[in-house]
Amino acid sequence: MEVLSVTSELYPLIKTGGLADVAGALPGALNETGVTMRTLVPGYPAVMGKMTGGREVASFDDLFGVTGRLIAGRVEGLDLIVLDAPALYERPGNPYMGPEGWDWPDNWKRYAALSWVAAELGHGLVEGYRPQLIHAHDWQAGLVPAYVKFGPSSSLKTVMTVHNMAFQGTFGAEIFPQLRLPAHAFSVEGVEYYGGVGYLKAGVECADVVTTVSPTYASEIRTPAFGMGLEGLLNNRSDTVFGVLNGIDMGAWNPATDPALAQNYTASTMQARQGNKRAVQEAFGLDASDGPLFAVVSRLTWQKGIDLLVANIGLLVAAGAQLAVLGSGDAELENAVRSAAMEHPGKVGLVTGYNEKLSHLVQGGADVMMVPSRFEPCGLTQLYALRYGCIPLVSRVGGLNDTVIDANVAALQAEVATGVQFAPPSETALADAIRRTLALYADEKSWKKMQRRGMKSDVSWEASAARYAQIYAALIGYSIDDSA
Ligand code: ADP
Ligand code: GLC
Repeated sequence: MEVLSVTSELYPLIKTGGLADVAGALPGALNETGVTMRTLVPGYPAVMGKMTGGREVASFDDLFGVTGRLIAGRVEGLDLIVLDAPALYERPGNPYMGPEGWDWPDNWKRYAALSWVAAELGHGLVEGYRPQLIHAHDWQAGLVPAYVKFGPSSSLKTVMTVHNMAFQGTFGAEIFPQLRLPAHAFSVEGVEYYGGVGYLKAGVECADVVTTVSPTYASEIRTPAFGMGLEGLLNNRSDTVFGVLNGIDMGAWNPATDPALAQNYTASTMQARQGNKRAVQEAFGLDASDGPLFAVVSRLTWQKGIDLLVANIGLLVAAGAQLAVLGSGDAELENAVRSAAMEHPGKVGLVTGYNEKLSHLVQGGADVMMVPSRFEPCGLTQLYALRYGCIPLVSRVGGLNDTVIDANVAALQAEVATGVQFAPPSETALADAIRRTLALYADEKSWKKMQRRGMKSDVSWEASAARYAQIYAALIGYSIDDSA
């Protein structure tokens, strides 16, 4: 089975969040199920820099008013088709924003071009390459299903995966004439969204199947609170909306071999985590204390509940705990954490910016990984935490609900607990969860057991890759080997 994945981020080439991790790991995981997945990505500088051995397979004189070409090649174990269009993508830094922090004004064009090219590939643009299905990720690839639906008739199928409803790619109606879609595509059955153009809406409307990244989020987004305007549409097609949980790359995230750790360890040599704890304390300017070390590795935004955390820093410090925060995002939240770090030197530390290596070290050295999100489609940090024996403290929403087993009395008695959950996402509920976590930490024996259980829980791609393969096969009309 030949599938083309279309994404605006791809680990290890370009990453701002979990989408990159997922798009980067899925092709390898699918390989085992007999699916061949190539990935179409924009030729950002970080991507072009790695494409030295690639070959040109197509070129465009007029790609939405600019020139471009497609380069195919294998980089870091991934089969890529890169859309090299310097006028659209040759910009430094973050893929979506300029240095001032504003979205690029031509984002509509940058991602329409990506999606249009994907559909062309699906229709046989490159001789010898014909995917049977296109898997589009997030709003940046949201127009793919529309270009396929309103393009030449073919057996080509589309799957749209929503990684986050909060980012929908909505633009004014004035861009529509430039999208290369027929006039009737500006309709409820097409790209029209509240009078403008909605890229994610188009994907959710036009794809053969819509998936999102956890079963709980798949049901949450059918409600107004989480659907963010798309709940009605999702309800209309609820028999073709599925939640498929993300997995993690078990090779890149393995505490036994991770080169980012000060000390490697397994579930039976967990005392070695102590060396990593000291390294984390050093990196965040914290005292070399043996008290519980709480951590956050996250975008600092409202979604992630960082304000709820800030409100509870006093409680943590008073209890003799430490807090290490790695992240960047909203200036206001960043400043609030920075002030707390200044107020509690040696107890609270902040490292801003994006630091992949440090994110691994934190997982290997902190005692508790906090993810107090207001909504969380899946969340990967709690999965990395489980694998690294760092206890996740999470709100009970989305994928956090599906991946962490709360240490309530029944779960402790049954010896299945892997972390702490709280609901609703509020300051007081988080305070209670922190108190519960501190009490658990004080019981060294059961804490260790919980760590080991987490390290053994299945956070791999295996089951979910098989599920994607099944979805593709059902659409294409393939029968797949059940044992695959
Ligand atoms: P989201 O995609 O919503 O940001 P996820 O939990 O799915 O949330 O994925 C976040 C990814 O980004 C994880 O791989 C996490 O380790 C990483 N990450 C977040 N902030 C940072 C940072 N400041 N430095 C390094 N990695 C980070
Ligand atoms: C989004 C979501 C996150 C999810 C990631 C990968 O960024 O916010 O919950 O894990 O996509 O699917």
